[in-house]
Amino acid sequence: MDIPHVRLPDGTLLPAIGQGTWHLGEGRKARRDEVDALIHGLDRGLKVIDTAEMYGNGGSEEVVGEALKQRRDDAFLVTKMLPGNTGHNNIVSACERSLRRLQTDVIDLYLLHWRGAYPLEAVMESFGHLRDEGKIRYFGVSNLDIGDMKELRGTQLGRECVTNQVLYHLASRGIEFSLRPSMARWEMPLMAYSPLAQHMGKSHQSLHRDSVLTDIAAHRNASVEQILLAWVIRPYQGHHTTLAIPKATSIEHIDDNADAMTMVLTDHELALLDEAFPAPKQKVPLDLI
Ligand SMILES: NC(=O)c1ccc[n+]([C@@H]2O[C@H](COP(=O)([O-])OP(=O)(O)OC[C@H]3O[C@@H](n4cnc5c(N)ncnc54)[C@H](OP(=O)(O)O)[C@@H]3O)[C@@H](O)[C@H]2O)c1
Repeated sequence: MDIPHVRLPDGTLLPAIGQGTWHLGEGRKARRDEVDALIHGLDRGLKVIDTAEMYGNGGSEEVVGEALKQRRDDAFLVTKMLPGNTGHNNIVSACERSLRRLQTDVIDLYLLHWRGAYPLEAVMESFGHLRDEGKIRYFGVSNLDIGDMKELRGTQLGRECVTNQVLYHLASRGIEFSLRPSMARWEMPLMAYSPLAQHMGKSHQSLHRDSVLTDIAAHRNASVEQILLAWVIRPYQGHHTTLAIPKATSIEHIDDNADAMTMVLTDHELALLDEAFPAPKQKVPLDLI
């Protein structure tokens, strides 16, 4: 079965499930195991690797760099700049530090991690400059709600952002009210972070034990995590517009996530999930971690 792809504005296609890397490079697992897990993910078609200068203070980018040494062409590499890097020279330096840790000449997609005090338009101008210099291929933003996105789209380079990476999972559907429809209108794919809702602490366990979810999973002989991922990447208005970036360091989890790519939920299953986890009927503030 064909795997679903999300389309960037220039037609570049990316498999709808990638790999997150938060907490890698922090010594929670042996570094070699983290590197091997990312390589296994690439072998399984999880091409998009998402990291950030913030994760492990650069440690996550270093692990990703090690994994990509022999596999750079197989990956679509995403990293994020902290908003504390203000001023053009500091933004260029932050990008160059990331490039060094990632052991590469070019970052495929460079994101502003969240909005800071420095004007969005100025960040975009620096990102445009980095793209002109060949240090990044595409740029985008993260954690921007609809108001900030409209402001961004009011700038010339802001309209060239290829994505907004936001929190999105079955128990956090706030973006469906206005952000996601607007992004679809702008033909801007969405990157869904924390698609397995690991940030929810105790509520994470109750989500994963929810009987609607566990029944659908059991009926399909699938895991609850696979249902959560299949739900996040489900087509929207007839197209695949959402790319999920679950983080997994166990080989078993990576295989599970890769297999979820071809899982298509039925209308009946989607209706059951809608009933148990309703979409918002009014604007709610963007969920953040
Ligand atoms: N832009 C932002 O502000 C932002 C914020 C948060 C996250 N992110 C990005 O999004 C990525 C994903 O989010 P996240 O790390 O918060 O959490 P997540 O992907 O929702 O969940 C990760 C957890 O789920 C486990 N897991 C993964 N696949 C599984 C499976 N098939 N079955 C059972 N357990 C599974 C992992 O365990 P193992 O590791 O043991 O396999 C890990 O404990 C991050 O790593 C990061 O790249 C971005």
